[in-house]
Amino acid sequence: MDSTTRANRRAWETASRPHGREWYDHLLAQAAAGATLFDTERELLGEVLDRSPDVVHLQSGNGTDDAALVQAGARSVVGVDYSEVAVAAASRRARQLGLACRYVVGVLPGAPLVPGCADLVYTGKGALIWITDLAGWARDVVRLLRPSGHLFVYEEHPAVPLWTLDEDEPRIRPDRSYFGACHVNDTFPAGGAVQVQRTLGEVVTAVAAAGLRIVHAGEYAEPFWRVSGVEAAAWSGRLPNAFSLLARAPGVGPVG
Ligand SMILES: C[S@@+](CC[C@H](N)C(=O)[O-])C[C@H]1O[C@@H](n2cnc3c(N)ncnc32)[C@H](O)[C@@H]1O
Repeated sequence: MDSTTRANRRAWETASRPHGREWYDHLLAQAAAGATLFDTERELLGEVLDRSPDVVHLQSGNGTDDAALVQAGARSVVGVDYSEVAVAAASRRARQLGLACRYVVGVLPGAPLVPGCADLVYTGKGALIWITDLAGWARDVVRLLRPSGHLFVYEEHPAVPLWTLDEDEPRIRPDRSYFGACHVNDTFPAGGAVQVQRTLGEVVTAVAAAGLRIVHAGEYAEPFWRVSGVEAAAWSGRLPNAFSLLARAPGVGPVG
């Protein structure tokens, strides 16, 4: 594990610590409602979920999306996350709700799962910014997918770290660059975590270079997450704040 990943893992372990009974119950209620998937996700994943896929959720965190995936048709979900605290809490919630979801501790790339165990690899919502080896991550995804399986990413747009949270008009932060390598994430709950900065082109190219065929790529004005109590002008509809990616693994036989 590289030093950035090691330090970020410590920060995530702190950030994932239980925030009391109320927070746990809030996430439990959210999971039970199965409503955390965005409409765009449901549309793009509709056909895949109709086929009752076995899902691997990389960087599963709280696992609330997993309940929604099961309710939308997934046969099973296995979540992988390097935070032992997050894995324990997500496992407990899944047991309480009787969901076909289980969680394992693992550092990505290098998911501790057998090859070809997933029809769908699902990830995003603050995930890729912590992955220092994106090419290795994409190879891991391909290893996990069955023939004709899908990768789905719904993620913060890489331009988001540039936007200020000004309410009157959006501005570009002077300390950030779309073409930078990394920066300290100053909205992160535990503080001090270093996130990777990459372009959308780099993400798409990593996925394609690993051997997946891009089926869909979308960009959206609505952020997947809003800093609470803030009404930033950057979220008013003129700037990209999220993106999606659906990609398919080759099938068996010569056509693929
Ligand atoms: C924003 S959170 C969770 C996103 C998740 N999709 C959700 O909605 O709950 C990102 C998660 O990635 C995990 N994580 C970050 N880097 C990782 C890595 N290299 N390997 C495994 N997990 C990682 C963190 O522990 C954290 O739970």
